[in-house]
Amino acid sequence: MSWPPESPSGLIGAEIAGYRVERELGRGGMAVVYCARDLRLGRTVALKLLAPEYTRNDAFRRRFAQESRVAAAIEHPHIVPVFEAGEADGILYIAMCLVAGPDLRALIDREGPLPVPAALRIAAQLASALDAAHARDLVHRDVKPANVLVAKGVDSEHPEHVYLTDFGLAKKSLSLTGFTSAGEFVGTLDYVAPERIAGRPVDGRSDLYSLACVVHETLAGTPPFRREDPLDLLWAHQYEPPPALSGGRPGLPAAADDALRRALAKVPDDRYGSCLEFVVALRTAVGEAAGPAPRRRTPTVVDRVPPPEPPSWARPFLV
Ligand SMILES: Nc1ncnc2c1ncn2[C@@H]1O[C@H](COP(=O)(O)OP(=O)(O)O)[C@@H](O)[C@H]1O
Ligand SMILES: [Mg+2]
Repeated sequence: MSWPPESPSGLIGAEIAGYRVERELGRGGMAVVYCARDLRLGRTVALKLLAPEYTRNDAFRRRFAQESRVAAAIEHPHIVPVFEAGEADGILYIAMCLVAGPDLRALIDREGPLPVPAALRIAAQLASALDAAHARDLVHRDVKPANVLVAKGVDSEHPEHVYLTDFGLAKKSLSLTGFTSAGEFVGTLDYVAPERIAGRPVDGRSDLYSLACVVHETLAGTPPFRREDPLDLLWAHQYEPPPALSGGRPGLPAAADDALRRALAKVPDDRYGSCLEFVVALRTAVGEAAGPAPRRRTPTVVDRVPPPEPPSWARPFLV
């Protein structure tokens, strides 16, 4: 088996550390994630491989190895369970639970802004995962829609089950980082907190800022700040007041604008004390304006996710 593969589909069918690679699920700044068959246990998993361009880069190798340890250390219903991690033939891999559903980036691209109750449910689950990481003194540092996986929930009271993933940039609280470590900003700057831009120490409240940007996007269709020029975007995060949420999602009460504004405060001390506190404030603001919740079951975002193709043995016979 060669790595990097000669063609993008070169790994399909390959066997790595006892996993048979079946198809690509997604890729981010650092890795490619495949759907793979665990040949020992006969189950399907998500297999994350460090992208070929980074296999010879020590900083990326260290960060990738650390990611699995961080994610495995936090057992939480809204954090993707890690099964194992290692290296085989020079390829670094993480095997984890396969989440059947799109990431939030794909969901928003396809659906646009989400129904308010769904956006609030997703926010609450993410907040709970982040608060759990923060309780262990960890900062995720890469909270964005592509790192949120949305699966179908267990029942009509819990229509979505959301997972936070990708602890590749996670750090201990209050570590001084700034923009200096390799590949830190291979992705988007849409969700980055002002104190990170300024190179000040970060803690859980930086994730809270990013969460608020994500919540803004699920409700308004775009994150609070959008600029053509990345420097203008960095400037806006640091110095410009965020636009009112109700400007992007008409009909939301002024109290919801206030909740977003506080979560997006430039100074961490001015934000909420926890992610859940923010989501509760937002839910209270929206709930109070909407009156009592309807009892009827409303369609949810995952109802509109097309079901996966059935395997060949499950397809109907043509007569
Ligand atoms: N456990 C999983 N189940 C299903 N899809 C996944 C899983 N983990 C990641 N993905 C998909 O792969 C993409 C990249 O994964 P991610 O861990 O964020 O990699 P990177 O570190 O390169 O950003 C995600 O945005 C998501 O679409
Ligand atoms: Mg990612």
